[in-house]
Amino acid sequence: MALILGLESSCDETAAALVTSERTVLAHCLATQEAHHRPFGGVVPEIAARAHVEVMTPLVEQALAQANVRLADVDAIAATAGPGLIGGVMVGLVTGKALAHAASKPLIAVNHLEGHALSPRLANPDLQFPYLLLLVSGGHCQLLYVEAVGRYRRLATTIDDAAGEAFDKTAKLLGLGFPGGPAVEAAAKAGNPKAVPLPRPLLGTKEPHFSFAGLKSAVLRARDAGVYKSEDIAASFQQAVVDCLLDRTQRAVDVADGATALVVAGGVAANHTIRAALEGLAARNGLPFFAPPLWLCTDNAAMIGWAGAERFAAGLTDPLDVAARPRWPLDPDAEKARGAGVKA
Ligand code: KG4
Ligand code: ZN
Repeated sequence: MALILGLESSCDETAAALVTSERTVLAHCLATQEAHHRPFGGVVPEIAARAHVEVMTPLVEQALAQANVRLADVDAIAATAGPGLIGGVMVGLVTGKALAHAASKPLIAVNHLEGHALSPRLANPDLQFPYLLLLVSGGHCQLLYVEAVGRYRRLATTIDDAAGEAFDKTAKLLGLGFPGGPAVEAAAKAGNPKAVPLPRPLLGTKEPHFSFAGLKSAVLRARDAGVYKSEDIAASFQQAVVDCLLDRTQRAVDVADGATALVVAGGVAANHTIRAALEGLAARNGLPFFAPPLWLCTDNAAMIGWAGAERFAAGLTDPLDVAARPRWPLDPDAEKARGAGVKA
């Protein structure tokens, strides 16, 4: 059995966790920066980096104490090395390097997206490779064919905004607060999903790519029309996202031969309406459905520790001069989506 210390700091959560190769989470500690960013209605990179510096070391100490282990007991240190806000990524990665050097432990540089992608395997030992993964977070919206640890084929991505970004922008437009996803979900509960006619970008197109920028603009126009209740806009927006995710995922199921399961991960996977809709889609296709528990969907260090455990078992460790990467696609061979902006 291997014991891995995981560190995460790529966006606005600082986190440290101790995870075993046998799927036991001995400790997972998290400090959210929500209060720091709320006045700005979004994550401010410079503020995020400074806040990570302040709490990363105390969080590591807290995790070790909670798990009742010493650094010397750890087999390897796994830290997010990208993609993300580079100032924050560097805080976790440099901390990981320093601890690895001081304690003479191997370092594992984890791709944050691989953390999300493998998190359902931490939650459930029954999930085997290969599987079809819908990875929906604040920065990414992708369909991936997960073949093995370190082997991902990207079937589709967003040509503009990520789904979580659309939730966050909608919340801001409707004055629902920050972070946006949970706020929109709560408002949508009291609204009518059919009240506001909103577009379903790219629905029915052959390649299963996503687009959410037009939907966001339509939310703005609906708000400015001044005739709709914000709960109705929230519910209609959420329904439009669900319809897009379902249509695109079905398209991917049709082309992803051999997938043994349908899996969803990432912050947006915490949305109950989206989880239920995907579960239905999986059932219609005769596929088992896996979604991590809510705490494992949004950013955390247990998923980084677990990805570290999977990589460690495969003999994959990294040199101490490994670089932090603001961009780091899981599938380096993926072609750019047609009509896409800069997002990888
Ligand atoms: O995975 P994550 O914590 O960070 C990134 O790697 O991006 O995802 C954060 C995103 C945010 O955009 C947030 O609004 C969204 O996930 N999110 C949700 C919900 N909870 C978090 N979106 C919809 N419904 C939710 N309940
Ligand atoms: Zn994330």
